[in-house]
Amino acid sequence: MGIRRRIVAGNWKMNLDRAGAVALAEAVASGATSSVGCNLILCPPSIYLSPVANALKISKGESPSGVGLGGQNLHDQPKGAFTGEIAPAMLIDIGCSSCIVGHSERRTLFGENDAIVNGKAKAALAAGLTPIICVGETLEEREQNRTAAVVTEQIKGSLEGFSSADLTGSIVAYEPVWAIGTGKVATPEQAQEVHALIRQQLANLTDEETANRVVIQYGGSVKPDNAGILAAQQDIDGALVGGASLKADDFLAIAKHFADAS
Ligand code: 13P
Repeated sequence: MGIRRRIVAGNWKMNLDRAGAVALAEAVASGATSSVGCNLILCPPSIYLSPVANALKISKGESPSGVGLGGQNLHDQPKGAFTGEIAPAMLIDIGCSSCIVGHSERRTLFGENDAIVNGKAKAALAAGLTPIICVGETLEEREQNRTAAVVTEQIKGSLEGFSSADLTGSIVAYEPVWAIGTGKVATPEQAQEVHALIRQQLANLTDEETANRVVIQYGGSVKPDNAGILAAQQDIDGALVGGASLKADDFLAIAKHFADAS
């Protein structure tokens, strides 16, 4: 068993209906024992958080199946006149233990910059949620050899002011934008290179011991047939899965690869 937990999260994005969400959660929960050694988190659309929490039988923050619940987004304020937004404490109230923050779709389609992501991540931590903080370069940035610079800036900006406890209470997800939903997975070497760079940046922010304890997930076209080789990389501690998380068998097969590598 390595120093870090293995954590695989499913980002369902804006997919499924209520019945489909419940059925998927039940299927994942009943198969979760196949991937003991790897923590699982499901991130349904916010309107289905409550039925999924019920399907997972989450009560007072405890999930008997071990499968956790996460939001896809949150607001950085505790309450008020923010039509359409969801406060961190509301996610806790409904049974969430984590929340994705700064997904590239939020960054590019909804104008979230590093400062906004930083505020949301801190609000998540303050409420007791584990933020899953996403970074990653676009194809254009990679082709211009700017991957390291872009990811470094995102890490510095998104995690500004983090203490060691904040860092170890967070998950970082490296999701190269060009690999999301495209079927183009980063090679294990490409992913490992950026994960190692991220870990170095985390060490610069705090210290090496802290950085070595932070779970760094890879995301972008993770499937059962490429998860094994990704999981074998030294600094890849889990996955943030989009499309393949909509099929229980695929999601569980991915988790098993990470469990086996733990
Ligand atoms: P895909 O697995 O569909 O490429 O999506 C990755 C992602 O964006 C997870 O947050």
